[in-house]
Amino acid sequence: MKILITGTTSGIGLKLAQDYMAAGNTVYCCGRNQSVLHQLVGPFGDKAIPISFDVQDREGCLAALASLPELDLVILNAGTCEYIDANDFDAACFERVLRINLIGLANCLQALIPKLAAGSSLSLMGSSSSYLPLPRAEAYGASKAAIEYLAKTLAITLGKEGIHVSYIAPGFVETPLTDLNDFPMPMRVDVEFASRRIRQGLERKQREIHFPRLFTGFMKTLSLLPFAWQRFLLSKVLMS
Ligand SMILES: NC(=O)c1ccc[n+]([C@@H]2O[C@H](COP(=O)([O-])OP(=O)(O)OC[C@H]3O[C@@H](n4cnc5c(N)ncnc54)[C@H](OP(=O)(O)O)[C@@H]3O)[C@@H](O)[C@H]2O)c1
Repeated sequence: MKILITGTTSGIGLKLAQDYMAAGNTVYCCGRNQSVLHQLVGPFGDKAIPISFDVQDREGCLAALASLPELDLVILNAGTCEYIDANDFDAACFERVLRINLIGLANCLQALIPKLAAGSSLSLMGSSSSYLPLPRAEAYGASKAAIEYLAKTLAITLGKEGIHVSYIAPGFVETPLTDLNDFPMPMRVDVEFASRRIRQGLERKQREIHFPRLFTGFMKTLSLLPFAWQRFLLSKVLMS
C-alpha cells in the first residue's frame, strides 16, 4: 500500500510509520524535523519517503504534497497539546493549538482528498478528550471535538465516493507529548499498543478506533449522562 502519515517524527505517528514500513508498505513520512525524517530512510530504504512541511503553512503544505500519486491510506496524525487556565484565558495559546490541530489538518485535507479514490481510507487523529468537557483542555478538547465532527461529516460526503473515513480517539499514550503532563494519566498505554490498535481498526474498517477500551468506554459512558451530571462528576473528580 501507499500510505501517508503526518507527524511521523515522534510518538504515535513514528511508530505507525515504522510498523507499516516493516510490513512492506511505502510510507510518505511527514513532519517538520528533517533530520528525524531522513533517519527513517536508513533502516527502511525506499519504503520511507520523507516530506518536510509545517501543517500550519497552507501554501507550503499544498506544494509539498502536490506531486504525490494516488494513496491507499492517509492518517492525519500531526498535533500538539497545550493547556488553558480558564481564569487567565490565553487566546494566543488557544489559537496555536487550533492552528496546528484543526487548521493544519484542514490544509492537509485540501491537498490530499484529491489523492484518494474509491476503496481508499482517510483517518483523522482525535482524542478521547472529544467525548467529555475536560478542565484545562478548553483548546485541545475543542480542536479534537471539531475533528470528530469533521470525521463524521467526511464519512458521509466522501463515503459517497467510496472513501472510508474513520476517527481515532486514544486515551493516554506514552509519547513526548504526554511526558510533559503534570497530572496522573490513568491506563496510559505505550506506542506499540497504540499502533497495533490503530492498524487493526483500520484493517477492519472501523469508523471509530478508541483505546484502551476500559478507559475510553468509561469516558463514552459518562458522555451519555445529562450535562448537569457530567459537570458535577467532572468538577468533583478533576477539580477537587
Ligand atoms: N499521546 C497521547 O496520549 C495522545 C492521546 C490522544 C491523542 N493524541 C494525538 O495523537 C497525535 C500524535 O501525538 P503524540 O502523542 O504522538 O505526540 P508527539 O510525539 O509530540 O508527536 C507529534 C507529531 O506531530 C508533528 N507536528 C506537530 N506540530 C506540527 C506542525 N506544525 N507541522 C507538522 N507536523 C507537526 C510533530 O512533528 P514535528 O515536530 O517534526 O513537526 C510530531 O511528529 C496528536 O494529534 C495528538 O493530539 C495523543
